[in-house]
Amino acid sequence: MQKSVAELLLSDQFLHDFQIKGWVRTFRANRFIALNDGSTINNIQCVVDFENLDEAILKRITTGAAVSIKGTLVESQGKGQRVEINVNEIEILGDSNPEEFPIQPKKHSFEFLRENAHLRVRTNTFSAVMRLRSALSFAVHKYFTENGFYNFHAPIITGSDAEGAGEMFRVTTMHPENPPKDENGKVDYSKDFFGKETYLTVSGQLEAETYAMALGKVYTFGPTFRAENSNTTRHLAEFWMIEPEVAFMDLDGNMDLAEDFIKSVIKYVLANCKDDLEFLNERFVKEESTKPQLQRSEMSLLEKLNFVVDNNFKRVSYTEAIDILRNCKPNKKKKFQYIINEWGADLQSEHERYLVEKHYKCPVILFDYPANIKAFYMRLNDDGKTVRAMDVLFPGIGEIVGGAQREERFDVLVEKMKALDIDEKELWWYLDLRKFGTAVHSGFGLGFERLVQFTTGMGNIRDVIPFPRTPQNAEF
Ligand code: 4AD
Ligand code: MG
Repeated sequence: MQKSVAELLLSDQFLHDFQIKGWVRTFRANRFIALNDGSTINNIQCVVDFENLDEAILKRITTGAAVSIKGTLVESQGKGQRVEINVNEIEILGDSNPEEFPIQPKKHSFEFLRENAHLRVRTNTFSAVMRLRSALSFAVHKYFTENGFYNFHAPIITGSDAEGAGEMFRVTTMHPENPPKDENGKVDYSKDFFGKETYLTVSGQLEAETYAMALGKVYTFGPTFRAENSNTTRHLAEFWMIEPEVAFMDLDGNMDLAEDFIKSVIKYVLANCKDDLEFLNERFVKEESTKPQLQRSEMSLLEKLNFVVDNNFKRVSYTEAIDILRNCKPNKKKKFQYIINEWGADLQSEHERYLVEKHYKCPVILFDYPANIKAFYMRLNDDGKTVRAMDVLFPGIGEIVGGAQREERFDVLVEKMKALDIDEKELWWYLDLRKFGTAVHSGFGLGFERLVQFTTGMGNIRDVIPFPRTPQNAEF
């Protein structure tokens, strides 16, 4: 019978006649194999009786090798584990040359591991992060399913720029050096695969709105793409976004949903990923202790997660936030890179982090932003200058959620699109929603990797997605 390391470590019976397959993490004193098969952060100790073992086999038990073991589960003779395996039979399934295998049983830098992203998941840290990523993904689907949402798959190839920021990757089958041209010498996209210009989507929102206006409550959870040249610890060119969209829900409902949703998925992993979280907590605390006092997190990872679950997010209007920022010390002493002088200024991540980490010391939801720094689809307030936008800001992360109540009034939306030079013909179907049974509706987008970053305490977003895509990097 085939067993996993997780099963054996939890077993309350001393089993025999089982087989286990995994990879050697370490082999010490020609006797103790630490075996891992990915089922848990913990290794199982396998004790080999080297006197009965062929010398040639013994040499092939090296870090990274794949092995199959038959044995007996016994109470451990040594300290550090409750049970261990007495090995009766060992078969080397796949050798791993210790001189060449990059993942040695020692501390590697995250930079080095990024260059070996195909192997880094064989380390404790990355296996813990990726198991948590998987659990969070499940928790997302669980939350929405249990709350009456339908999962909607937004298209990945699109002709419309939902955010209007123009940071899109082009999708084409035309030859880059010799595209078909029209009589004016311009590239003729009518001859391209789709007969028009197309891109990888930056957001599934506009399409999700069409489904919310029929199914009521929907969410997308898919890859999104942004060609912005941001080399930061919080930006990827390819990332996964969760976007719920709800008919008949206003901005207050949207804020309630975002807060409840985030708390729920964090609660899920706190309850279901204890071993991995404990490991990551220890890693986090150790790393923080190497930082200068002022940059150090006051809380451990587990304390941060429990804090988010147990406390209300602070809801603050943009106008209120600007007053705080204008009068705060780093602004007056010109410590910010971007000084806040007046109402209307776009907030940079240094400002968001000041509000969250220094001023309120808790997650913050900012709402009612100036219309001209937000996307065209957000609902205009009666003041004529702010829109029903909301951003959820998190400690150490900054913006984790961006959302809004949508402009449901046909005339107002058309006027806005005209002012921003957005082609009405391109978005005819989006405008149709405002013609046929229009209603108040809202939604938001949560960057999945930023959530994984927060939950695992990892400092760099490139370390929470299996194969990061960033400017100048699409290896693997
Ligand atoms: O604020 P954003 O741009 O909002 C939208 O795209 C809306 N259409 C969503 C909606 O209302 N349905 O992006 C949403 C979130 C951000 O708050 C951030 O967490 C994440 O997506 N995000 C990124 N994550 C990683 N890398 C990037 N380059 C990201 N850009 C945005
Ligand atoms: Mg945003």
